Amino acid sequence: MKSTTGKFGKTPHQPSLWTRADALKVHADDPTTTQPLVSANFPVLSDDVFIWDTMPLRDIDGNITSVDGWSVIFTLTADRHPNDPQYLDQNGNYDVIRDWNDRHGRAKMYYWFSRTGKDWKLGGRVMAEGVSPTVREWAGTPILLNEQGDVDLYYTAVTPGATIVKVRGRVVTTEHGVSLVGFEKVKPLFEADGKMYQTEAQNAFWGFRDPWPFRDPKDGKLYMLFEGNVAGERGSHKVGKAEIGDVPPGYEDVGNSRFQTACVGIAVARDEDGDDWEMLPPLLTAVGVNDQTERPHFVFQDGKYYLFTISHTFTYADGVTGPDGVYGFVADSLFGPYVPLNGSGLVLGNPSSQPFQTYSHCVMPNGLVTSFIDSVPTDDTGTQIRIGGTEAPTVGIKIKGQQTFVVAEYDYGYIPPMLDVTLK
Ligand code: FRU
Repeated sequence: MKSTTGKFGKTPHQPSLWTRADALKVHADDPTTTQPLVSANFPVLSDDVFIWDTMPLRDIDGNITSVDGWSVIFTLTADRHPNDPQYLDQNGNYDVIRDWNDRHGRAKMYYWFSRTGKDWKLGGRVMAEGVSPTVREWAGTPILLNEQGDVDLYYTAVTPGATIVKVRGRVVTTEHGVSLVGFEKVKPLFEADGKMYQTEAQNAFWGFRDPWPFRDPKDGKLYMLFEGNVAGERGSHKVGKAEIGDVPPGYEDVGNSRFQTACVGIAVARDEDGDDWEMLPPLLTAVGVNDQTERPHFVFQDGKYYLFTISHTFTYADGVTGPDGVYGFVADSLFGPYVPLNGSGLVLGNPSSQPFQTYSHCVMPNGLVTSFIDSVPTDDTGTQIRIGGTEAPTVGIKIKGQQTFVVAEYDYGYIPPMLDVTLK
């Protein structure tokens, strides 16, 4: 590949830009890019735990994989505290909203299994207490490595710091269920470097997390996507012509948008096992547009690279906005250039009447999109809400060229396998 010299030095590629002009095309409530309303009568997976980010077991090529007919998902999980005095309000009632909002600080990785790709049964914690080096076990990706059932779980070890790590274990099946064994030794892989990816020292609100390893279908090499922010001291970023894009007269003012600096990071493995990684410049940056491009992942379809990432309304920069949901970009080759799907990037957003109904969407190669329920209004004014902490109805989308369309809705937490591996 030809190398070029730019903001990230002499590298094989320069990041593609999600511009303010692209983001001006984002429109909530377009039915082709809006998630159907989630009913406030949703069922919950468990009365004991909240779950949110859901990570289906898959192979390194991205295929959702069952083992011996068992589907397996990993979830970020936290105990619910209905009887804990710490979570009672002045009237002695359980303050579920506060409990839910505090969950990130005690997130742990759990797993669930199912024969039907739904109706998940709780397996338990993936790692025993004390195995993970930090307090928080944040999102990542479980990869089934072989027919022996070996699994590499890549995830983010957070507080103190934020380190991309991996831990190896094994999936074991019986007629009655699934257990995970091993997952005892966590290997740190890398942290933000401050040159390409922002560090905590540069910005206390930095993001560096959510590893998603994959094999490039074209060059066969092992890579990893992750969420980052563009390196540099908070407030030092420039929102120039390139970041603004082609805006109409009157839209040149960028306000304080220099504080929003999200990017989709990429690293390449130096070895076959994925134990030794080199960070490369981001694939995509959103400087002046949005501060978070979380849980980036790919769907490889029709020889193209469909890059998806989740983002929030509250992380948009001054003068641009959009719904919580999943956004997407497409390129003909891994290193881009990427263009926003549907012109804007928006693929599946929450309806404006229920802006927090779901989040953390994961687009699977079969066009099914899984997410979790955050909160759903229970009255017309939206002042009363019901907290979710459970799987949302799965949505089907069709990906066609540079466009996507919502085409179907399925059951809660429906994550069917794309292939089954018989363990040896
Ligand atoms: C997305 C997310 C991830 C992070 C986790 C923390 O919902 O913010 O980026 O790993 O949740 O709870």
